Amino acid sequence: MVSPMLKSLLLLLAAPCVLGADVSLPAELFSPLVAQKILATATQVQNPVKYPQWTDRDTGAWDYFNPDTWTSGFFPATLYELNRRTTLCAAEVDAQSLNGSDWLLLGQTWSAGEVPSETNTGVGHDVGFLSFPFVNELQLHPDNQSAITAVNDFANHLAGRFNPIVGCTRSWDTTDPTDFQVIIDNMMNLEVLFVSANLTGNHTLIDIATSHADHTAINHVRPDGSSFHVVDYNSTTGDVISRHTSQGYADNSTWSRGQAWGIYGFANMFHHTQNTSYLDVSRHMAQYFIEHIPDDGIVPWDFNAPLDPPRPADSSASMIAASGLILLSQGELSLSPPNTTGSDYYINTAIQVIANNTALAWRPSWQSLLANGTVNNPQHNNLTGIVYGDYYFVKGANDLVQLGVATCNGTLTGALPSTPSNGSAPGPAATHTDAAQNNGAGAGGATVATMLGAVSGAVLLGSFMI
Ligand SMILES: *[C@@H]1O[C@H](CO)[C@@H](O)[C@H](O)[C@H]1NC(C)=O
Ligand SMILES: *[C@@H]1O[C@H](CO)[C@@H](O)[C@H](O)[C@H]1NC(C)=O
Ligand SMILES: *[C@@H]1O[C@H](CO)[C@@H](O)[C@H](O)[C@H]1NC(C)=O
Ligand SMILES: *[C@@H]1O[C@H](CO)[C@@H](O)[C@H](O)[C@H]1NC(C)=O
Ligand SMILES: *[C@@H]1O[C@H](CO)[C@@H](O)[C@H](O)[C@H]1NC(C)=O
Ligand SMILES: *[C@@H]1O[C@H](CO)[C@@H](O)[C@H](O)[C@H]1NC(C)=O
Ligand SMILES: *[C@@H]1O[C@H](CO)[C@@H](O)[C@H](O)[C@H]1NC(C)=O
Ligand SMILES: *[C@@H]1O[C@H](CO)[C@@H](O)[C@H](O)[C@H]1NC(C)=O
Ligand SMILES: *[C@@H]1O[C@H](CO)[C@@H](O)[C@H](O)[C@H]1NC(C)=O
Ligand SMILES: *[C@@H]1O[C@H](CO)[C@@H](O)[C@H](O)[C@H]1NC(C)=O
Ligand SMILES: *[C@@H]1O[C@H](CO)[C@@H](O)[C@H](O)[C@H]1NC(C)=O
Ligand SMILES: *[C@@H]1O[C@H](CO)[C@@H](O)[C@H](O)[C@H]1NC(C)=O
Repeated sequence: MVSPMLKSLLLLLAAPCVLGADVSLPAELFSPLVAQKILATATQVQNPVKYPQWTDRDTGAWDYFNPDTWTSGFFPATLYELNRRTTLCAAEVDAQSLNGSDWLLLGQTWSAGEVPSETNTGVGHDVGFLSFPFVNELQLHPDNQSAITAVNDFANHLAGRFNPIVGCTRSWDTTDPTDFQVIIDNMMNLEVLFVSANLTGNHTLIDIATSHADHTAINHVRPDGSSFHVVDYNSTTGDVISRHTSQGYADNSTWSRGQAWGIYGFANMFHHTQNTSYLDVSRHMAQYFIEHIPDDGIVPWDFNAPLDPPRPADSSASMIAASGLILLSQGELSLSPPNTTGSDYYINTAIQVIANNTALAWRPSWQSLLANGTVNNPQHNNLTGIVYGDYYFVKGANDLVQLGVATCNGTLTGALPSTPSNGSAPGPAATHTDAAQNNGAGAGGATVATMLGAVSGAVLLGSFMI
């Protein structure tokens, strides 16, 4: 057996052979079925209002949940993503079946059903996810008072769950209030604190986000970049009582979706603070994720789950991680000077993760876009469609178009390294090919960095808020 460290090094050295020239986007990203299926779901309004979360594992038909469920924001946010796509892909609206639907109105209508959750303390800690469509609304209509109210209420609700002794916001409520549980997923909540702070000027919200992220980096992330799902703190002493799992295979294993939330969440902290400590945590978590994807490219529900019987995939973890890698690549580019090596590596890997897992999970006959999602394997809820897997599938494709990496017919623009380097340098740098060598194809061959250089920072900030 090779040592883990040697294995990592070998993987990194081998990376140029698999990255680069072979990268291509799956056509499904821009299939007309995307809009057709989402429209079909959007027009089946439930009375009283309910939101799709996962599908039946045999028929692929959506199961619906009450508005105060943590996942309710994803379907409206997906509708906002299709609205974004009509602008990004104006020449392709007919080909993608985006024509003829008022996606913005659908997004607004579907998010209105969530509004009572703003002041419903029953929603607990999951306000970050619930706030997504309202954040989308504010990107389009910054003066929309009801969206402003929603974002601020959600943020204040989360702030109310902050304990300064622990330094974190509380996740699940417990019968013993001194048992203070924090899950890695909550890194995704921090966005709403930044958006609200931006609206109100209340810096306390940013302090809370920073504290939560700092404690999570120390107590959830292991030395090898993997992560615990749950850390229990004592709310009166701040001590860590235990580290364990809820949805993963074992207390010491790495649940792939939690790892993906962490990659995204720490890249987002860097985006908001420019503090490179967060960039380093995101890089470290990304490296663990990438190195632990098995040879077939399929992201398993837990990186340490046994192979026999075959472990179910989690396509949602793959799509969340890909979006996190895209955000991380933007972080690398925002450095001065821009780290094009790192940026190219993460974009390239994101495209491969999307391609490999789309090939497995794209399921035309289902109501969801993707199958092979694992909601909660310890509760035997595996191999379903999942609303957040579909959301990040749509968002990731939009981000690639917005960055100039892909066109709306699924063609890569040539903004990626297309020839492998000699592999002599360790680490992601080994995958870098000097952009000057492969952008000879005129405008279509511009690097991500030069594309981005032409776009104002403000536009980029707006597009990567969630
Ligand atoms: C959308 O475009 C397709 C393909 O061009 C066309 O068949 C369909 O009628 C259009 N739908 C609407 C509502 O315009
Ligand atoms: C304002 O935002 C809310 C919630 O996002 C939405 O339901 C409503 O349609 C929006 N109103 C206008 C006038 O855009
Ligand atoms: C800022 O937010 C915190 C946390 O929600 C709150 O306690 C405080 O009252 C707010 N400050 C102001 C000036 O609104
Ligand atoms: C937290 O610490 C206090 C004080 O030592 C103790 O009474 C309490 O039982 C502890 N709670 C847990 C969940 O360990
Ligand atoms: C802060 O507000 C400005 C102006 O509305 C907006 O451009 C920017 O995207 C906002 N940033 C965040 C993090 O909400
Ligand atoms: C960056 O974050 C780290 C902890 O994550 C903190 O120790 C450091 O002070 C921060 N740096 C700045 C400049 O705020
Ligand atoms: C977790 O602990 C078990 C039992 O000690 C051990 O067999 C297994 O290898 C550990 N897994 C990881 C990923 O460290
Ligand atoms: C994608 O899958 C191929 C095998 O089909 C594999 O060689 C490649 O390493 C995978 N990429 C990632 C990032 O998992
Ligand atoms: C993907 O899902 C199908 C059923 O929908 C199942 O037969 C197959 O084994 C799954 N593959 C993985 C790797 O989860
Ligand atoms: C560029 O990014 C890669 C991947 O994150 C990292 O290993 C490398 O240290 C970065 N280089 C610089 C100069 O920041
Ligand atoms: C997947 O879920 C089914 C029940 O829905 C369960 O029987 C099976 O054990 C789970 N698969 C694994 C590998 O845990
Ligand atoms: C895809 O779109 C690009 C630019 O939008 C165009 O140059 C190219 O010819 C298109 N390719 C196909 C196969 O339609």
